[in-house]
Amino acid sequence: MDNNNNNNNNEHECPGGEYEYFGNSRSQGDYDRPRKRVSRETLRKRQFGALCVIALIVLILIIIMAKACTKDNPKKGGDTKPPASVSTTSGTGTASDGSLTTSATTTTVPTVSAGPNDSGFLLDKYTLYIPVGGTDYAYVTAYPNGSSEADEVWTSSDPSIATIDNRGFVTGVRDGECYVTLSTAKDLTKEVMIKVIIGTGVASTDTASGTVTGTDTGSGTGLNTATPQQNTTTAEPQQLAEAPAPPKINIEGAHYEGDVLIVNKSYPIPASYDPGGLESTTYTWFTKLSADAAKAGLNIYLSSGYRSYSYQSQIYDNYTSIYGQATADTFSARPGHSEHQTGLAIDVNTIDDSFAGTPEAIWLEEHCWEYGFILRYPKGKESITGYKYEPWHIRYVGSEVSKKVHDMNGITLEELYNLDSQYN
Ligand code: DAL
Ligand code: ZN
Repeated sequence: MDNNNNNNNNEHECPGGEYEYFGNSRSQGDYDRPRKRVSRETLRKRQFGALCVIALIVLILIIIMAKACTKDNPKKGGDTKPPASVSTTSGTGTASDGSLTTSATTTTVPTVSAGPNDSGFLLDKYTLYIPVGGTDYAYVTAYPNGSSEADEVWTSSDPSIATIDNRGFVTGVRDGECYVTLSTAKDLTKEVMIKVIIGTGVASTDTASGTVTGTDTGSGTGLNTATPQQNTTTAEPQQLAEAPAPPKINIEGAHYEGDVLIVNKSYPIPASYDPGGLESTTYTWFTKLSADAAKAGLNIYLSSGYRSYSYQSQIYDNYTSIYGQATADTFSARPGHSEHQTGLAIDVNTIDDSFAGTPEAIWLEEHCWEYGFILRYPKGKESITGYKYEPWHIRYVGSEVSKKVHDMNGITLEELYNLDSQYN
């Protein structure tokens, strides 16, 4: 009885049920052999501890399973570099962007998709449309830290569709789609991909009018080894939609067609327009052009680059005093009308008619587009540009426009944008 009383007392001493017996029932013998009594709080703690252990075990199991999956599929891993591409076979049909029809039989599915990424590379375009036999390239506008153009490593996922040289020039070989990858020799894990669509009848990336015929000669640096396009398929490929005309923009008295600054007899720039020297991209690409010409055994050097408004005034006044205004106007721009004031124009070598027909002049005319330049005052276009033929005067317009001009057989900016060039 005492024990019972004690037990009861204990229960009462601990209101709220803090104490309880271990077990639900007990025999008389149990009272003779005292049992350890456990508080409800301790029990809850033990239950909580058990739950924690179970949760930990489950967590460990999940981690182990995730690691096993990652091993099987590198694409899901963060550190494992995926293979460059996986090829699958498909039938003839519409290209993946729906805009073209090619007779491609193999589609290369990249494990890294084309387009900008966090590699540090930036390009001016991530898709190239190239006719069979044609050549195009994407202009690299930014490199990963510590890398430069000299570190470029270019590869084609399928050279039987499109080849690529070590400068990034892509040449269409046969109908199909593939990818070219740009990485840096400093860190081959940093890469960016460009989708390449090759097709007979495919309009090239920058050509508004559609079909492009190959005009590359394969001479010079050997960059353009493509043969002219031949329409050998019977398929009726869809043409790319005609590119919309760029907007005409006036910024502080300067006229732009899209982002191309226009300076001619009809479109002056203000006297205050002063880049202070040759524009840096222009200089960079000219340096590259000159270096590649040197590799071909030619000497192309800068003779006259940036000219200020006041310096152009002196030159023009000098010519008018010698030849009279009418004649001077055929070869020298009035102040405010010279492309040299923009820092985007360069006169090379000997600035007179003796330059015409030299190996340097011929190379320049054939290859300057590859560096973003155009021959601004071509032969036979005097009435359109307003100036006599100047084989030494090149103008930087960027790769897209220079390629367009090249593809359109040396069309002038006046023709391309439907502009006049005449003094009022
Ligand atoms: N010779 C060109 C037209 C100029 O003077 O800018
Ligand atoms: Zn010039």
